[in-house]
Amino acid sequence: MASILTVQLGDRSYPIHIGPDLLASLGDLCKGQGLGPSCLLVTDESVDALYGDRCEQSLRAAGFRSTRAVLPPGESTKSMASLARLFDAAVTGGLERSSFIVALGGGVIGDLAGFAAATYLRGIRLVQIPTTLLAMVDSAVGGKTGINLPQGKNLVGSFHQPSLVLADLSTLRSLPPREGAAGLAEVVKYGVIADPEIWNWLEAAGDAATVLSDEALLGKLVRRSCEIKADVVRQDEREGGLRAILNFGHTFGHALEQVTGYTRYLHGEAVSLGMLYAARVSMRLTGFSGDDTRRMERLLRALQLPVEFPDLPWAELRTAMGRDKKSTSGAVRFVLAERPGVVRFGCPVEDAVLEEVWHGCR
Ligand SMILES: NC(=O)c1ccc[n+]([C@@H]2O[C@H](COP(=O)([O-])OP(=O)(O)OC[C@H]3O[C@@H](n4cnc5c(N)ncnc54)[C@H](O)[C@@H]3O)[C@@H](O)[C@H]2O)c1
Ligand SMILES: [Zn+2]
Repeated sequence: MASILTVQLGDRSYPIHIGPDLLASLGDLCKGQGLGPSCLLVTDESVDALYGDRCEQSLRAAGFRSTRAVLPPGESTKSMASLARLFDAAVTGGLERSSFIVALGGGVIGDLAGFAAATYLRGIRLVQIPTTLLAMVDSAVGGKTGINLPQGKNLVGSFHQPSLVLADLSTLRSLPPREGAAGLAEVVKYGVIADPEIWNWLEAAGDAATVLSDEALLGKLVRRSCEIKADVVRQDEREGGLRAILNFGHTFGHALEQVTGYTRYLHGEAVSLGMLYAARVSMRLTGFSGDDTRRMERLLRALQLPVEFPDLPWAELRTAMGRDKKSTSGAVRFVLAERPGVVRFGCPVEDAVLEEVWHGCR
């Protein structure tokens, strides 16, 4: 059974459809949103081989003129060169102001195709079809789009809300288990920042394989995660304040990804360690309990996520965490948890605490 959730953003509100076997309804759902008459379907080679034809057939059956742009899989596709390819395909495909782009894939395709939609002809409409768990619970919802530069990740981008999001849970069956587990890290994060019930659901399932093969449970987790993200985005669309809570575990997680050259950890794996680190900082500053930290660790371990901290020089990690320009002391600002479901953002944390916690983790 599909469920529909609406992201409330006034006249830019949009539905998120969550359920199994939704790809066949793509064309009709696009029609229902008044989209058309032509579109560009953007995907990567791996996802194209699995789901490209099904999407295109559904679009054509509903009367849309559709062309397809297929890019190599991987983070390096989120580039200026790919963006140029998409603009080229859009012109060749005859896309006009009334046309739309369909992003079929993980966060890489969602961010890239979303940014193309945000900028082509000063903005055309966008449909997100996330096919990784991470994209379903995070990147396809909230309107952030963008690409990487050689100098750094996500340095160019824009806010561009989709007109429709289709989270077809059946596509997760083909997802490599490691990618699935990485997506679960963000689900655990929603448990920390807003709803501890999510932890209960995950603990009851027991391990990553069980969670990832249970479509009903996945539906519940994706829906609850999207609700939480949508609610935060509704209150703070452009990241002026509250949206920061979505970054729980990410200050340390991003630093870990950067220091290890984006090769050792998937994003969600780095976030797993980042959340454990943030929990330990929280134990020092907000009274987050040792029991809850140990519970988080057990849960992440059961979900096949890393919980052992690697041997890395503290100075490099600290540099990668950066300095907060707004704080006079230069202290890094963290999202800290008080207890599962309750967090504070913008908390300055002194260097001495950060370093002691790091040594305590190892
Ligand atoms: N916009 C946002 O708010 C936001 C939030 C979080 C992350 N992101 C971005 O998302 C990106 C990471 O996204 P991701 O983790 O989805 O990675 P990804 O898009 O690279 O997908 C991971 C891999 O899985 C493959 N794949 C995708 N769906 C599949 C399926 N159903 N079956 C089999 N294989 C499949 C892809 O081809 C790829 O090789 C990063 O660039 C990150 O910056 C954006
Ligand atoms: Zn993340």
